[in-house]
Amino acid sequence: MDPTTYPVNDFGPAMRGMVIGAVGILHVFLAQFAIGGGFVLTYFQWMAGRGVPDARRFLDSFFKYLVLVSFVTGAMTGVAMWLTTIQVSPRTIGLMVDEFHWIWAAEWCCFTVEIVAGYMFLRWGQRLPDRVRLRLLVTYSSASFLSLFWVNGILSWQLTPGSWLTSGDIWAGFFNPSFWPSLFYRTAVSSTLGALAAIAVINTMDVSRAERHALIARASRLLVPMAAMPVLGLWYVAVIPADSRAWITGGSVAMSMFLALAAGASLLIGAYALIGIWWRHLYVSGATAALLLALAFGATAAGEFVREGARKPYTIRQVLFSNSITPAEVVRLRRDGSVTDDPYPLRDAVRYPNAQLVLGARVVRAQCSACHTMKGANALVHLGGGWSMDQLRLNIAKLQLTKAFMPPFAGPAIEVEAVAQLVAWEAAGAPRQWPVSDDPAVLAQIGRWLDEAGIAPSPERAVSRPRGETPVEVQP
Ligand code: HEC
Repeated sequence: MDPTTYPVNDFGPAMRGMVIGAVGILHVFLAQFAIGGGFVLTYFQWMAGRGVPDARRFLDSFFKYLVLVSFVTGAMTGVAMWLTTIQVSPRTIGLMVDEFHWIWAAEWCCFTVEIVAGYMFLRWGQRLPDRVRLRLLVTYSSASFLSLFWVNGILSWQLTPGSWLTSGDIWAGFFNPSFWPSLFYRTAVSSTLGALAAIAVINTMDVSRAERHALIARASRLLVPMAAMPVLGLWYVAVIPADSRAWITGGSVAMSMFLALAAGASLLIGAYALIGIWWRHLYVSGATAALLLALAFGATAAGEFVREGARKPYTIRQVLFSNSITPAEVVRLRRDGSVTDDPYPLRDAVRYPNAQLVLGARVVRAQCSACHTMKGANALVHLGGGWSMDQLRLNIAKLQLTKAFMPPFAGPAIEVEAVAQLVAWEAAGAPRQWPVSDDPAVLAQIGRWLDEAGIAPSPERAVSRPRGETPVEVQP
């Protein structure tokens, strides 16, 4: 059966991958804060039940509204994730739904319990005895943690599908090699976010300095899981595929920089917590706490960026390339063309002076636009616009060898030529007239390059030339 061709959206100067990345980062940050906030509330309620002074005052502060807001915005961005992902990569999400239908259902149940418990606490919490309040908060936190538990299995499966690849067993896919390190890591991050926000809120409370210190010291206990983050991070990096590992630890300058950024920001927060809060008993002002939270946001953003990037050229490793083509389909598309079955018209078809450029634009939409735009982010015109025609043809035909994190080109020689012509035309300023290129000798040469490149992804995916070096030499 032929795969369905889904319509995809074009997001202007941003490439599709960036859009899902941005929504994803925001969502992960808010959702993890909602979980950590639940931990903080539960912990303080437990203390309140044991008569710890001021614990109740903290619970009555606006912290619970922060948790509410993050949880509502977390839900909103969560739905936005579905909307974006069906516009960006419908086939990826389709496969995830196919494989994990009941896991999504389980996640939905947990989320419902989370909403009900959270709402009941907010609505009636004031009037309830400590014992019942604690139960509600334990329910809220457990349910929110379990939502993470379920979703974590699906997300980590994308990078490390593990023995699911051969067995197709759903639990093998769910409890995949990066499941546990990823779950523990995210839990530590959640707890850290909750603690930092709690410290910021405690600073605004109208209590004596000594009382504030005592409360901050208690809230900062939830920073303890942070200590495990370096080990968990290393564990995660150790279980991901070797090529992904090489790619984020030196193979790609951008990826390695973001990894360093995530690690550096986390270390800074950890060092401040250790030295400032516990050892020196420093007073953590609201501004400092806010700064630490901003750092944590940076670390989350960089970390998610690296996690998404490490998967290239796949959205589901060994199953689906980033451009929603499966490795098995490449053979057929090389023969039949990648856009032959694509029923969707171009938005701007009248712009192009000839049918070859229209074909080029359709091929770019199908095969390249997940990671490139023509002239915006990661623009094809900027990357290849200055090359000679033969260099362009060669590098596109041997896409997976040009940069190891690109998938193999999945179309015949005429499609390579159409894309090369499109890049040259845009680079020339999109003139009104442009000749059609149909020299059989050129097409035959492209065909040989396609054959040489083969259909397998690059064997050494991460070992690519540093940026700025000249592209693959054209063979004589
Ligand atoms: C999985 C994501 C992905 C897909 C799909 C993809 N690319 Fe790329 N491509 C990249 C990245 C990332 C770079 C590196 C950009 C940089 O060096 O800044 C790149 C670089 C390039 C370069 C410059 C190579 C060099 O040596 O400097 C060209 C040309 C290019 N891509 C063309 C294409 C074309 C044409 C397609 C579609 C047929 C495509 N790419 C599909 C991710 C992708």
